[in-house]
Amino acid sequence: MPHNAVPFLALLGQQQATTMRERVCAMLRKAIRSGVLGHAARLPSSRLLAQDLAISRVTVEAAYAQLESEGYLSRQTGRGTFVASDLPAAPVRPVTSPPVQLSTRGGLIDRGGGCDDPQFPQAFAAGSPDLRAFPHRTWRRLMQQRQRLEGEKLMGYGDPQGLPQLREAVADYLGQSRGVRCSAERVMILTSSQQALQMIALLLCDSGDPVWLEQPGYAGAWHAFRSAGAQVSGISVDERGAVPVTQAAPKLVYLTPSHQYPTGVTLSLPRRLAWLEFARRSGCWLVEDDYDSEFHYDGNPQPALQGLEDNARVLYLGTFSKVLFPSLRLAYLVVPDALIAPLCRLRSMMDGHSAQLMQAVTADFIQHGHFAAHLRLMRQLYGSRRDLLRRELAEKLGDRLTPLAHQGGLQLTVQLNHGDERRLTEQAAAQGLLLPRLSPLYHQPGSEACEGWILGYSALQPNEITQAVDKLARLSY
Ligand SMILES: Cc1ncc(COP(=O)(O)O)c(C=O)c1O
Repeated sequence: MPHNAVPFLALLGQQQATTMRERVCAMLRKAIRSGVLGHAARLPSSRLLAQDLAISRVTVEAAYAQLESEGYLSRQTGRGTFVASDLPAAPVRPVTSPPVQLSTRGGLIDRGGGCDDPQFPQAFAAGSPDLRAFPHRTWRRLMQQRQRLEGEKLMGYGDPQGLPQLREAVADYLGQSRGVRCSAERVMILTSSQQALQMIALLLCDSGDPVWLEQPGYAGAWHAFRSAGAQVSGISVDERGAVPVTQAAPKLVYLTPSHQYPTGVTLSLPRRLAWLEFARRSGCWLVEDDYDSEFHYDGNPQPALQGLEDNARVLYLGTFSKVLFPSLRLAYLVVPDALIAPLCRLRSMMDGHSAQLMQAVTADFIQHGHFAAHLRLMRQLYGSRRDLLRRELAEKLGDRLTPLAHQGGLQLTVQLNHGDERRLTEQAAAQGLLLPRLSPLYHQPGSEACEGWILGYSALQPNEITQAVDKLARLSY
């Protein structure tokens, strides 16, 4: 083949690879796949190509050898280097991207719409901690210390169950603060509550298995169990929390006992005991999502459901997203011994484990007492913001909105007395005010939904709360 290095030179300039050998390889792969170098075409000799590209012949030789080992080229002694003749012909360049046929599961996931977490704290995005009040200096110091002492070790692969030191710290914290019965051996460190729910669904639910969720309830849980193919149905919630059901036997029941999401009510003690008894009798699992129990402002929260009896059929989960910061991506799951090994195997097939440095710093943060101090401060701060929001709402929107239970949490759910939730939400969005809607959290098709909003306040400073309530009051109800 008469060779001409000009198209190669142009292609070479487009390659992002780091070394010259990799750039030559990338250039030739591209030329072959796009048909610039056809079937069985002869390549220039390594000497000639090196000359034309003004690079070393050793580099071209190394690139040819690499592409031969990948199956792109065939080198024939005494004859030259050719594009491999058994490569399929280059495809005609498509005008649009190829169509994708999702699996049944893929379709379920896609139609579910996924989870929608606020990326920037903004009035009234729900569930964001105040990152301006985070002890950044202390965190930075602990990071630097850990990196200095154990930097290399923490850069390697880690235990899918989680860093032992963090599991110890979490087990101690949960035992002392939440009455959870566990030891570090039964704690699993994960990326998020969402990952925990997804893994529970994968390991415990077959397609078509009945799963019960509070109604209204947390969309992330709904998505996790629906995408696993479970038959999800709603259980009603009143002022004492999720109403126990005595007939039938689901595979699993998802509950938020400390602070029901999104109504904010606490599951009463008789109801807790009734759910535990139901689980024992029916053999189902209770998933206890204790996502923000640290933020109770009027007295202490009730201890965890999991701790009410030995060997309760409860899978307990919590997250650092609210008490530290969401992008830390650390959460924990406390499960019976027999579930640890399957969870570790599943984790090893997903993303292996959470970042080790972050686990180590979080463990230090807890064990050196910074976590308890941070929680005390945030409880005060968020409690005063909750009081301000309640006062502002009562004063400016008392006849239009009814706040639901509000002993704690990072958001206050309000019911609309009159007006159209969707229209008002769109009107607010046009003015830069985000109003997370209540009615879509009634997931069961055909159920009667309350209209209203879940107003996140924890990340807002007092003047931001006042301004946001003013905007809310100016909507045309
Ligand atoms: C009930 C509930 N569980 C869990 C989470 C989120 O936790 P993570 O960020 O760990 O998935 C949220 C977030 O708003 C929540 O409302």
